[in-house]
Amino acid sequence: MPQELALAISECEHDRLFILTDDTTERLCRPVVSRYLCLKGAQVITIAAGDAHKDLDALSAVWMALQQGGATRHSCLINLGGGMVTDLGGLAASTFKRGIDFINIPTTLLAMVDASVGGKTGINFNGLKNEIGVFREAACVIINTQFLKTLDDENLRSGYAEMLKHGLISSREMLSALLRFPIEGAMEGDALRELQQMVAESVAVKQRIVLQDPHEHGLRKALNLGHTVGHAIESLALRRGRPLLHGYAVAHGLVAELYLSHACCGFPQTLLSQTAAFVRRVYGQVPITCDDYPELLDLMTHDKKNTAGAINFTLLADAGQLCLNRTASLELIAEALDFCREGG
Ligand SMILES: NC(=O)c1ccc[n+]([C@@H]2O[C@H](COP(=O)([O-])OP(=O)(O)OC[C@H]3O[C@@H](n4cnc5c(N)ncnc54)[C@H](O)[C@@H]3O)[C@@H](O)[C@H]2O)c1
Ligand SMILES: [Zn+2]
Repeated sequence: MPQELALAISECEHDRLFILTDDTTERLCRPVVSRYLCLKGAQVITIAAGDAHKDLDALSAVWMALQQGGATRHSCLINLGGGMVTDLGGLAASTFKRGIDFINIPTTLLAMVDASVGGKTGINFNGLKNEIGVFREAACVIINTQFLKTLDDENLRSGYAEMLKHGLISSREMLSALLRFPIEGAMEGDALRELQQMVAESVAVKQRIVLQDPHEHGLRKALNLGHTVGHAIESLALRRGRPLLHGYAVAHGLVAELYLSHACCGFPQTLLSQTAAFVRRVYGQVPITCDDYPELLDLMTHDKKNTAGAINFTLLADAGQLCLNRTASLELIAEALDFCREGG
């Protein structure tokens, strides 16, 4: 990684270098990079960890630190952290003096395979997630799974759900490798090397889609697989005061949307059962009852990605075969939620 990072930094011609961390990545991840010569003299900016701090106050604190640290239009910001840091740091860099270069070094699995690539930056605002932001690609994204050694199991599994999604929209081979992988022992020897390889493949799936449709007019909607139902489950859990990590909600959302895919597009029963069994084993029971259905359906109808009251889904005819912009009846969605709860 030092050579890769040195190259990335040298390619972003810069006068001053800044590193953004949150207080956890400052403690656990910065020591890994602090001995790199290419980072000598870099000024460190640290914000509080957690999505609650992906806000205007923290953004303003980063702008302030850049200004007081003498940043110019030719400075470079390195975002070292999870999706919270890469999203907020990306926005800070994209707006400071109309935009300075930034490099992402994602340190969570979710940020490696999802948040740090694809050019979406942003903060939460006035109670809404990612309400303010811009599209701007990092000058470079440096991915090293060594950082995952300190990541807790829940966050690891959360990121893995986005990898499952990428497997589903990519190919049967990729999906079966993901379903076979021993996620419980992911940080040991051969498994860690295999994970590094699977992460690279996962990033490539996202990059391929984003390159074809950077601003989400069509194909990029494929990346919403599992998210229509997933976001509803995530919001409901938050309302009930029992927040769920994003990837857990997405994992259950994937099962529900694969059920819809089976019903509407002929997605194979075997892949549906295998994925549902994996999700049940790794992510546990979906934390909803049938009394929650009206609220979940309401949340799906009002999801910001939906228009005119119809609930839109990205579905699949098979792993790697997309059916974009599908809708389903409320009855069928309720059946899909039943399937999620009962495991088929
Ligand atoms: N831009 C996009 O396309 C995109 C896509 C998906 C998600 N996101 C955003 O990403 C964010 C979620 O990302 P996340 O799950 O990485 O959350 P996060 O950045 O909040 O990280 C989760 C926790 O793990 C800690 N952490 C980070 N690296 C660690 C490490 N190596 N060891 C131990 N602890 C570590 C963090 O300090 C934090 O407490 C959300 O804000 C979401 O909106 C953005
Ligand atoms: Zn997601």
